[in-house]
Amino acid sequence: MPLFYFQTFGCQMNVADSEQIRKKLMMRGFKPSLSPDKADIIVVNTCSVRENAEIRARVKIGEFAKSKKENASLWVIGCMAERLGDKLKRIIPEIDLVIGAKRIDEIDGIIEKQLPGCVCSKLPETESNVTDFVPVMRGCNNYCTYCIVPYVRGPEHSIPVGEIENVIREKVTNGVKEITLLGQNVNSYNDHETDFPDLLYKIANIKGLERIRFTTSHPKDCNEKLIRAIAEIPKMSRHVHLPVQAGSDKILKMMNRNYESFQYLELVDMIKKYLPDADITTDIMVGFPGETDKDFRETLQLVKQVRYTTAFMFAYSVREGTEAASMVDNVPKEIKISRLNELINLQTSITKEIYSNVVGKECEVLITGQQKKRDRFWMGQDKGCKKVLVSCNSIKAGMILKVRAVRSSGMTLICERIV
Ligand code: SAH
Ligand code: SF4
Ligand code: F3S
Repeated sequence: MPLFYFQTFGCQMNVADSEQIRKKLMMRGFKPSLSPDKADIIVVNTCSVRENAEIRARVKIGEFAKSKKENASLWVIGCMAERLGDKLKRIIPEIDLVIGAKRIDEIDGIIEKQLPGCVCSKLPETESNVTDFVPVMRGCNNYCTYCIVPYVRGPEHSIPVGEIENVIREKVTNGVKEITLLGQNVNSYNDHETDFPDLLYKIANIKGLERIRFTTSHPKDCNEKLIRAIAEIPKMSRHVHLPVQAGSDKILKMMNRNYESFQYLELVDMIKKYLPDADITTDIMVGFPGETDKDFRETLQLVKQVRYTTAFMFAYSVREGTEAASMVDNVPKEIKISRLNELINLQTSITKEIYSNVVGKECEVLITGQQKKRDRFWMGQDKGCKKVLVSCNSIKAGMILKVRAVRSSGMTLICERIV
């Protein structure tokens, strides 16, 4: 039985793409391998968003190139594969196949060509996870000046509603309870008749689907209709991920984000009005070209004002070919790092406060699985974005339970079941 091994870097879109390819290989009789050294095909799905992401992928590919079995194939796919193309083969000659992110839709034909004669069969029955991802749109037209994504993923296109519904129905039949709809900018979703809020109303009708999440929304086109849809649909999670990037209007303009901080804050107020118990999370970048200490203080100020539950925080990384790459990157590395640390410290203290404020309160938890280390505990997530541990017998994955938070340990709520 031939074996495959996957290593996935980057965002949830990459995780979803890897899953799709994994299934296609399994339909051709391949089985997952626990170790890369035993695999007949090693697939590395790459990310280009920051230099570090590329470095990590390259190191990993180099390791696989050395340790792989004699005749094993090494495939490099995804965003770095798109950016560097066959140049990658020149850097690491052991690479057999490079498939860029823009060609991910052609994967069927590519696999067919690579593995001719492999008979295609129905996927063997396997137990599904309780949660899963479903891409609803791909690509991005926003061209934020720092970002490589529009170049490597190509222009926006939406997947037809019917197709999305079928994919979700199938997953639900296999035991999936919660779906996260994915897109670089889901608010741009439009399949001619249906916009993103309408897509949510339609998907909410799928029987057996218990919870719906989505990511990411761009503030410039996140509107009242969407927020109202979240409030009106009981299956919607109470979580809005709304990347702000910066608190300074000067920097936001240089980033081509198409909103000013006051507009962003108005949006946050609207979310808090419709969804008072919702978790709001974000992405923030420090050290963009031209960022002064004053600009950075404005970011800190905004973070204090919004009080995000959690945030992904990054130091700016120059991406060749983007507009910002031609701006003078005049913030020294040490300053970037010290700003990042200051921001992380601030956000960590806010996160801790928010978590400890829910201690004593009730919440609704979807159980996703059993914790490996301490098998007394079951893992789950509340309706927002908070991770939860529940200690209880007679639970199983997929159950939705009412629990009470008894303690918070950093970024996890320890809960007990309310009978
Ligand atoms: N489409 C999503 C973001 C995808 S990239 C959105 O618009 O929200 C995820 C995050 O990586 C971004 O929100 C940004 O904070 C960060 N990022 C993107 N390019 C970056 C760069 N060149 N340097 C540092 N961080 C970057
Ligand atoms: Fe990148 Fe901006 Fe598009 Fe997000 S919206 S993927 S940050 S260009
Ligand atoms: Fe990275 Fe590509 Fe996602 S660049 S963040 S894997 S879209």
